[in-house]
Amino acid sequence: MSIERDDSDRSGTPGPLKRPRRLRTTAAMRDLVAQTTLRVDDLVAPLFVREGIDSPQPITSLPGVVQHTRDSLRAEVAELAGLGVKGVILFGVPATKDAIGSGAFDPDGIVQIALADLRSEVGDEVVVMADLCVDEYTDHGHCGVLDADGRVDNDATLEIYARAAVAQARAGADVVAPSGMMDGQVAAIRRALDADGFNRVAILAYSAKYASGLYGPFRDAVDVEIADGGDRRDYQQDWRNVDEAMVEVAADIEQGADMVMVKPALSYLDIITRVRSRFDVPVAAYHVSGEYSMIKAAAANGWIDHDAVAIEQLTAIKRAGASIVLTYLTRWFAESGSQHLEAR
Ligand code: PBG
Repeated sequence: MSIERDDSDRSGTPGPLKRPRRLRTTAAMRDLVAQTTLRVDDLVAPLFVREGIDSPQPITSLPGVVQHTRDSLRAEVAELAGLGVKGVILFGVPATKDAIGSGAFDPDGIVQIALADLRSEVGDEVVVMADLCVDEYTDHGHCGVLDADGRVDNDATLEIYARAAVAQARAGADVVAPSGMMDGQVAAIRRALDADGFNRVAILAYSAKYASGLYGPFRDAVDVEIADGGDRRDYQQDWRNVDEAMVEVAADIEQGADMVMVKPALSYLDIITRVRSRFDVPVAAYHVSGEYSMIKAAAANGWIDHDAVAIEQLTAIKRAGASIVLTYLTRWFAESGSQHLEAR
């Protein structure tokens, strides 16, 4: 009888005592020790609904994602519910835009109508969220109203956000998600919701939102072009900074945010981790349009394996500390992605 020895024992040369590879020897062992497993109920599907179209419109820079009609949106959300998805977030593409983005608070605005459709379609089975911003609805493409100098007027914008929040809550939103990065937006929205009796409607604050180059395909999806070649660096965060993300998150929680978000996700895993360790509310991260499109484009060229990279990246976002991931890959994961969960 002899116990199994490794080569180093046989040669008499002592090998390393610590052998981390022991825990990677079989798929069963790897599954047993895995610390992070993505689940379908961690995911939220961003969905677009466009006014005045009668068939879904593909979005070239977001392969596989469409601008929905009211009907195709209902069908999509019913199918997502059937697949076990617990959350969707809605973005509207209005037929007409104006200086103040009135489609964002018009009771007959496309998102309000679509929210009511979904409420009746899926009831409480799915958490129905509404992105709360005006950039899709303004003719200049900014996330707020402009002052005489053409800059985004913070406090005038808060009034618009408050009206939009109430309109979305009336239409049936469970969660409103302010994404415009105005100072004081969570407090303004919370006050307006409570004043109208919507104290059960939750706020998912886009708290740490960076002025990223990765939102390009999204702007195609919602037909937004910022006037005069402008950008959002006056209100979204500078990606060279960490500390101001903590200031933003603390302010939003103080003002009543129920959940906070870091956006984009993969270039900001350090921010996700810090927010997770410092604050005690659920942390969401948005795997944004450009992050999705990069996977699709490289995979279409045969340069990377779509499924392998998608699961690796989404898992990394959860590993960093996000408990909710907003991703255009939600349907893929719910349908087939979970087959790739184990790193076999
Ligand atoms: C603003 C908003 C944006 C996204 C979500 N909400 C665009 C922006 O800030 O320019 C981007 C999402 C994505 O890229 O997938 N309403």
